[in-house]
Amino acid sequence: MSIEKATNTAVVEAYVQSHLAPEDPSLLNARNNTIKHGIPPIALSASQGKFLSLLASCSGARNVLELGTLGGYSSIWLARAIKSTGGKVTSIEINPDRCEVAIQNLRSAGLKVPEEVDVVLGAGLDVLPKLEEEIQRGELERFDFVFIDADWPNQWNYFNYGVKLTNGKGSVIFVDNVVRAMLDYGHVGPEERDTSVASLVEEAAKDERVEAVVIQTVGAKQNDGFLMAVVK
Ligand code: DHB
Ligand code: MG
Repeated sequence: MSIEKATNTAVVEAYVQSHLAPEDPSLLNARNNTIKHGIPPIALSASQGKFLSLLASCSGARNVLELGTLGGYSSIWLARAIKSTGGKVTSIEINPDRCEVAIQNLRSAGLKVPEEVDVVLGAGLDVLPKLEEEIQRGELERFDFVFIDADWPNQWNYFNYGVKLTNGKGSVIFVDNVVRAMLDYGHVGPEERDTSVASLVEEAAKDERVEAVVIQTVGAKQNDGFLMAVVK
């Protein structure tokens, strides 16, 4: 039997999520409180959140860097994954209202802000050099796991900086929405290529610091995909 297109993706998502990644009240509150404040409903699905937390756990991550806090939903999954390590999640968010809602959601989930999750207000490309200085001054530990879920035209810039701030060999960089971004900016597919936006796929392929792969996904909403890279 050949499979021509993805079918029943929403019911499959609901089924697997109900069994393997049920949302507890804290996660449900984070999702709903975010939407209640008029923030777009674009947080990870529960299964994606669990996948991210399993990856952070199996890579032995202690310190996580997140770009794009939104309402803190993914930050909760990541903070839980590293809870026993004594490390923390540092999460960058450009929008002050989102920062405030995220901090509420994290505290409601029983997480200590900023000790367990530090939500840093600012544009990624302004905050990253400051984090680098803190690392150089010995005030901040390097990151073992970097989750990039922010403005799509900057995916490569964040990736490039993220790799610099890692602990080196074995550190993981995980980027959300890479398939939709590569289609939107015409790196592949029918759209005209936007030459002002670097292709994360092409840059990661040339980047001798990492080994990377893209996996396309289907979910309750639509198809997309993620890029995962491991520092060599
Ligand atoms: C959308 C989804 C995302 O995961 C994201 O980070 C930004 C936007 C969307 O569905 O529009
Ligand atoms: Mg995303």
